[in-house]
Amino acid sequence: MKRILVTGGAGFIGSNFIHYILKNHVDLEALVNLDLLTYAGNLENLHDIESNPKYYFVKGDVRDRNLLETLFDEYDFDTIVHFAAESHVDRSIETPELFLTTNIVGTQILLDAAKQHWKIDNKDKYSREYRKGVRYLQVSTDEVYGALGATGMFTEKTALSPNSPYSASKAGADLLVNAYHETYGMPVNITRCSNNYGPYQFPEKLIPLMIYNAYNNKTLPVYGDGTQIRDWLHVSDHCAAITTVLESGTVGEVYNIGGNNEKANIEIVRLILNVLGKSESLIEHVKDRPGHDRRYAIDNTKITTELQWQPAYTFEDGIRETIQWYLNHNEWLERVTSGKYQKYYHDMYDRASEKNNG
Ligand code: NAD
Ligand code: DAU
Repeated sequence: MKRILVTGGAGFIGSNFIHYILKNHVDLEALVNLDLLTYAGNLENLHDIESNPKYYFVKGDVRDRNLLETLFDEYDFDTIVHFAAESHVDRSIETPELFLTTNIVGTQILLDAAKQHWKIDNKDKYSREYRKGVRYLQVSTDEVYGALGATGMFTEKTALSPNSPYSASKAGADLLVNAYHETYGMPVNITRCSNNYGPYQFPEKLIPLMIYNAYNNKTLPVYGDGTQIRDWLHVSDHCAAITTVLESGTVGEVYNIGGNNEKANIEIVRLILNVLGKSESLIEHVKDRPGHDRRYAIDNTKITTELQWQPAYTFEDGIRETIQWYLNHNEWLERVTSGKYQKYYHDMYDRASEKNNG
C-alpha cells in the first residue's frame, strides 16, 4: 500500500494527478497534498475529492524543513511526486529570485528530508542503502534543454541549456536530483514533459488565456509573429506517464514525455477562435517575450519503448474537449480571474479549524 507525498497538488498538473491517482490507483493508503497555495494553487480544483478518506491536504512550503520532518514522521511516505514550483516563464522574467528559492532550494530541502527518512543509516556517508520500494520523482520540463531550430528533437541525452530564469531553475533542480542519486544513492527519477493542456490550468498560460479572452471578446495577445512551436500533451496523458515511471521506471533514469504534437502558437490561437466562432480580428501581435525559445520537440522513444507508455489523446480531440471544459466551467474561470478562489481556503479550512478550536 502506497503512502504518497504530492507537492504542489493544488496547481494545474498536481490537481489532475491527484484526481488520476485516486481514480486509478487501488493500492493507495494515503495521499498527502502539500501546497503553499500561491496565486497558482486553487483548492477548488480538488473540491470533489476533498472528503476522500485517503486524501489529506496540508498548507505549507516545501522549503519548510521542520514541516517536512513532521509530515514524514506522521505519514511515513514511500513515494514523493514533486510538482511544486513557480511555473510561469513570464513571471520568472520579472521575479527570478523567487524561482530560484522555490524551484532549486525547495527541491534540495525536499530531497534532504527524503534522504533523512529513507536512508537506512543516514549517519554513514558511504552507505547507499535505502528502505525497500521508496522512490522520489522530480517533475521537470522539456524547457531545460533550451530551444531547437527548425529540425531535431530533445532526447534524454541532449545537454541542458536553459534560457529563461524559470528553465534555469528547473535545470538546477534536476542537477540536484541527479547529485542526490550519484552521491547518496537516492532512488530517483526525473520526467521531462512538453507543454500540457487540459482542465484547471491557470489562465495566464496560452490555451486557457486565449479561451478566456476569446469568449469575452477581448484581444488575444500573441507574442511576436506567433510562429514559435511547442509540443502539446493532454494533462491526463502526462499523469499516466508519471504513474508509469513510478511503477516501472529504472532507478536513476530520466524519461522524456511528449505527444508528438508540434503546433505553432498562432495555429492554436486560430483554432480556438474557430471553435468559439470568433473573428481573427481579435488577434493582437504584441512585443515578443525576451529570450523566447523558438521551438521545443520531444523524442519520446525511451518511455514508449522501454515502459510502453503511449498518449491516449489526439491533439484534435483533446483541444476540443478542453475548450468545452472551460466553457462548461465558466464560473471556475471567473473565480480565478477575479481572485475569488483565494477565499476558498479560508472558507473551507480556516473556518473549520476555528470551529474545532471552539
Ligand atoms: P502550477 O503553477 O499550476 O502549480 C504549481 C503549484 O505549486 C501551485 O499549487 C502552488 O501553490 C504550488 N507551490 C508553489 N510554490 C510552492 C512551495 N514553495 N511549496 C509548496 N507548494 C508550492 O504549475 P503546473 O503547470 O501544474 O506545473 C507543475 C510542475 O510541472 C512544475 O514543476 C512545472 O515545472 C512542471 N511542468 C509543467 C508543464 C506545463 O505545461 N504546465 C510541463 C512540464 C513540466
Ligand atoms: O514546455 C513545458 C513548459 O510549458 C512548462 O515547463 C511551463 O511550466 C509551462 O508554463 C509551459 O511554458 P511555455 O512558456 O511554453 O507556456 P506558455 O503557456 O506561457 O506559452 C506557450 C507559448 O505561447 C509560448 O511560445 C509563449 C506564447 N504565448 C504565451 C502567452 C501567455 C503568447 O504568444 N501569448 C501569451 O499571452
